Amino acid sequence: MQYIPGLAGVPATESEISFIDGQKGLLTYRGYNIMELAERSSFEETTLLLLFGSLPTQAEFDEFDNALKDSRRVKFNIRNIMENLPSTTHPMHMLQVVVASLASFYPSTEYMKGGTENQQYVNDVTVKIISHMATLVAMWEHMRNGYKPIDPRQDLSYAENFLYMVTGKEPDKDWARLLDACLILHAEHTINASTFTTMVTGSTLANPCSVIASAIASLSGPLHGGANQKVIEMLEEIESPENARAYIEDRLKNNKVIWGMGHREYKTKDPRATILQKLSDNLLEKKTGRLSKTFKTAMEVEKVCEELLGHKGVYPNVDFYSGILYKEMGFDAGLFTPIFAVARSAGWMAHWREQLQNNKIFRPTQVYTGVGNSCYIPIEKRS
Ligand SMILES: CC(C)(COP(=O)(O)OP(=O)(O)OC[C@H]1O[C@@H](n2cnc3c(N)ncnc32)[C@H](O)[C@@H]1OP(=O)(O)O)[C@@H](O)C(=O)NCCC(=O)NCCS
Repeated sequence: MQYIPGLAGVPATESEISFIDGQKGLLTYRGYNIMELAERSSFEETTLLLLFGSLPTQAEFDEFDNALKDSRRVKFNIRNIMENLPSTTHPMHMLQVVVASLASFYPSTEYMKGGTENQQYVNDVTVKIISHMATLVAMWEHMRNGYKPIDPRQDLSYAENFLYMVTGKEPDKDWARLLDACLILHAEHTINASTFTTMVTGSTLANPCSVIASAIASLSGPLHGGANQKVIEMLEEIESPENARAYIEDRLKNNKVIWGMGHREYKTKDPRATILQKLSDNLLEKKTGRLSKTFKTAMEVEKVCEELLGHKGVYPNVDFYSGILYKEMGFDAGLFTPIFAVARSAGWMAHWREQLQNNKIFRPTQVYTGVGNSCYIPIEKRS
């Protein structure tokens, strides 16, 4: 048996949901290039595509969209749980706790057995989780700062409503469109760590709310989704483009990673980073008339990293530019990873549903490297 660290390159499933060509820098959802989806689709439509495999008709879209809107409000008891968390709780930890608690409000019993009733539960809980995720993150942003959360609105799209709930202002159409594109780009990405977590937990037939809570925990780490917050902290530490080279060289000399760089699958620039950079270039100049210092610093970091790490196939990943954009939209850095989680709930639910169709519990094996034939010695005789 050959052990492969991090299961690199080991297929863990068959899936029809998304595809990556790491050499060409290509990502497709159900065969559609994400560039086209980011430019022409919406998060709601892309979610339907991921969940059911094809672009919806207008009637299918309206039904799903209305269901998402109807599920935006959360129960009072859920809000009570949030109120009892310390205000210092990171939004990702809040999300993990509260999404896990949804299992008590939406218990599952026999959803695996098939039949209309059980399929209804799968569909209802899918909508509930995807809709609630955005509400919870937006609510907590106010609650952790000592304010009352803002009620969701039914007349806004998913991205617009999230912007409205966080800022309390009428959502700006341009920013909402950009956020929508960010949600599309983060919605799915084959078998990454958090999606694999979804499938492992899902394969035990755990409640779907517990499944998504485990995925949120997995995403929170800085080697995965948590990197976008780390990127902005790093760029702020660098301060200006002139300091970039010395900072990067120093980190590499000390064997520290550069946040937002590198990817297990891509050996070229992550296509999502390219799209985000293009979208942000256009909009930031239009909105502010200039590129921010953070953005210019990021471009310099990218240039230096290409020179120093390009030969290893290490280029910017999606997290490199998303944080900069979210900062420009006025989001606190603590919200960056939760926004990723909100978007990725679509992909997680799609994989959970796919896993259920042909479920086998995940139970890999190991290569034992410990000692053999140990002899038990009573405690008084041990030295
Ligand atoms: C994403 C990541 C965990 C992938 O890890 P991986 O597939 O195991 O890649 P490896 O660690 O084997 O990297 C291969 C080489 O590139 C280097 N490398 C990879 N990412 C790097 C980074 N961000 N900064 C500096 N060096 C990096 C490794 O040190 C290694 O060098 P070596 O061959 O001389 O030992 C890794 O690139 C990383 O830690 N990136 C920063 C965190 C991040 O942005 N995560 C978000 C991912 S979307």
